[in-house]
Amino acid sequence: MKVEVVADYEALSERAAAFVLEKVVEQPELVLALPTGNTPIGMYKRLVKAHQEGRADFSRLWPFALDEYANVAPQDEHSFGFFLHRHFIDPVGLTNRFDHLQGNAPDLVTECARYEAAIAAKGGLDLAILGLGVNGHIAFNEPGTPFDSRTHVVSLADSTREANAGYFPDGFRIPNEGISMGIGTVLAAREILVIASGKSKAPIVERIINEEPTTDIPASALKAHPNVLLIVDEEAACVWKR
Ligand code: PGA
Repeated sequence: MKVEVVADYEALSERAAAFVLEKVVEQPELVLALPTGNTPIGMYKRLVKAHQEGRADFSRLWPFALDEYANVAPQDEHSFGFFLHRHFIDPVGLTNRFDHLQGNAPDLVTECARYEAAIAAKGGLDLAILGLGVNGHIAFNEPGTPFDSRTHVVSLADSTREANAGYFPDGFRIPNEGISMGIGTVLAAREILVIASGKSKAPIVERIINEEPTTDIPASALKAHPNVLLIVDEEAACVWKR
């Protein structure tokens, strides 16, 4: 795993956006997995700006969402699908090419199988972009998730539900369950970009870098992948003694 430290959130967003733009130029039909959360917002803003200024052509991408809340409809403004439509998909004109897990599907297990098949039908993920949970989760794969897991229904950790409640001042009750690409699904991507910003991520960033891979830290699975870039800002790197 390659680690890059940049000054702050703005620099992280800039570097992540530049990385993605480079990949899209290399491979216009990139199949990619997209994260939700606060961390990628700056990156998405820059990508949308590049599109608006005619510096990027995203029109042939195949985007997939990493995860979703269970029992929340895609039209619901709290859903991850809604978030991604708003921050990236719709502004760059990918509305009809975007696939995301349907949190309100009648049978979530069937929906997970559909999703794996949809990714496989596009030739598998070329690039998975990941945020990082304070407990080391990637997508909604909480500690204890097997490294070979595929898209599955997950129980959300209390720390995840508390962290995510902060996104919704309207008091939206975070579901107990989610659906998520598995760690195995993510590891099957040809390349992986992880972004982490701020002091709250510093302890887990240190553990990911310094400890042996363990299912206690889902992101540590990435160390076995040959092509991973972890970009952190100075605050997220402050516990890691370089
Ligand atoms: P954040 O979420 O970007 O809002 O910190 C990351 C995550 O939980 O995966």
